[in-house]
Amino acid sequence: MKINNICCIGAGYVGGPTMSVIADRCPHIQVNVVDINQERINSWNDSNLMNLPIYEPGLDQIVGRCRGKNLHFSTDLERHISQADMIFISVNTPTKTKGIGAGKASDLKWVEASARKVASFARGHTIVVEKSTLPVRTAEVIQQILQVEERSGKKQEQGPTFDVLSNPEFLSEGSAVKDLEEPDRVLIGGDNDEAIEALSRIYKKWVPEENILHTNIWSSELAKLTANAFLAQRISSINSIAALCEATGGDVREVARAIGSDSRIGARFLDSGPGFGGSCFKKDILNLVYLSRFFGLSEVADFWGGVVTLNQWHQHRVSTLIVKKLFGTLASKKIAVLGFAFKANTNDTRESAAIQICKDLIDEGAILFIHDPKASPNQIEIDLGIKPLDKCIDGSNSKETSKDGTWCFASKIIDAADQADAILVLTEWEEYTQINWLEIANRMRKPAWVFDSRSILKYEEVIHAGLNFWRIGMG
Ligand code: UDX
Ligand code: ADP
Repeated sequence: MKINNICCIGAGYVGGPTMSVIADRCPHIQVNVVDINQERINSWNDSNLMNLPIYEPGLDQIVGRCRGKNLHFSTDLERHISQADMIFISVNTPTKTKGIGAGKASDLKWVEASARKVASFARGHTIVVEKSTLPVRTAEVIQQILQVEERSGKKQEQGPTFDVLSNPEFLSEGSAVKDLEEPDRVLIGGDNDEAIEALSRIYKKWVPEENILHTNIWSSELAKLTANAFLAQRISSINSIAALCEATGGDVREVARAIGSDSRIGARFLDSGPGFGGSCFKKDILNLVYLSRFFGLSEVADFWGGVVTLNQWHQHRVSTLIVKKLFGTLASKKIAVLGFAFKANTNDTRESAAIQICKDLIDEGAILFIHDPKASPNQIEIDLGIKPLDKCIDGSNSKETSKDGTWCFASKIIDAADQADAILVLTEWEEYTQINWLEIANRMRKPAWVFDSRSILKYEEVIHAGLNFWRIGMG
């Protein structure tokens, strides 16, 4: 099972960076990333590397090195599936919005469509690797679809035949390239040693052998969900303690430092924030909840469900306290929102806490001036489901805003702050730590507030500028 040609179905946040790193580390393998979205493929092929559809530090350099040599982006699924020895399925698996399991189970229609394409076009023996985050036992679904073709031995004298492996992705957005180049571990689940070895050989080009773990396919699928559930649980845990700190006079940063120095707990993933976002955490926990209920484990389901419930409550808690601090009403008040992406160093806004918090503030009548260095105004409009005010799309006509409960995109922080009653930091972008608070304070309407939901601002500088200050978890 020598791998010379890889096809990856899905050119998104997982498929794009993962295949770029494989191509970079394995120059002898031709890597073709295919997608049904022509616009996305065009962006991957854009001669200006600043226009790649995904912003990840270091990704543009890798694409620049490999594209056109052994890394290709295309919409020709049929051709590249038929040429591939190994096919990664890396399509989106959002939570179902209707039907059985709506709001909890993953929608597998894109995975199923991909498996059917593989079944129709693959030739000879092909290793199919599930890369997308998938509910446990999805490999079985893929296997069943592929087996129909195996049995019919369609058009070809030999095969097609398939092996299905699970190889979950643990990359974190914003540090995807580093996570791919120096992974804590690579997990490969499957039951055919030869197929596992073929995939291991690819990773061994840059990952130490002892960091490549082999499990059965179900453990591999479940390990991915469990890793995300444990990480999300830490965030809900520390956010719950932040609320308690605010009530009692503690400081969550001090509590986090104190508990994090216990090596059994560890220091990472203990930063209290506005609530976790991103495409994986909520979806994966809801999957665990669904799975647990399906198997009659209602206590297990309730336990994990609590992590999501706490996260939602926490987001509303942030918006509610802003309303309270601003005298109980936001009608016609201008609030500068700094950051919309679900975390820094990504343009991704999926499940961002900013979505719910901004919606809450808009419902209260606030006029939001939203700034983000990478998230696009178009995406923000889709997420909020509200058109921005026409007049201030660049944030420069702030004084003309009169409509309650609306928003504008501000391309400069200073414009967002002009005549604002409050500034709310929702994403921990580095540039927000460099703000000149004296300059900003001069432009704001007094009494003015700064709400730091990421704990990144220097308290003394904000206070010194004559502004009121609130920080998450600071009693
Ligand atoms: C996550 C997992 O980390 C990754 O392994 C998996 O493959 C995909 O899901 P990602 O969604 O990119 O990665 O982001 P992550 O860095 O885990 O952050 C998720 C959310 O938690 C963000 O909204 C982030 O701001 C928040 N967070 C993270 C905190 O609020 N506090 C922390 O201490 C860490
Ligand atoms: P992820 O974060 O899991 O990578 P994304 O939404 O960023 O998710 O990317 C998934 C990609 O998969 C999208 O670009 C989408 O167009 C693509 N896709 C979905 N279904 C198919 C399909 N049947 N064939 C090819 N590409 C697909």
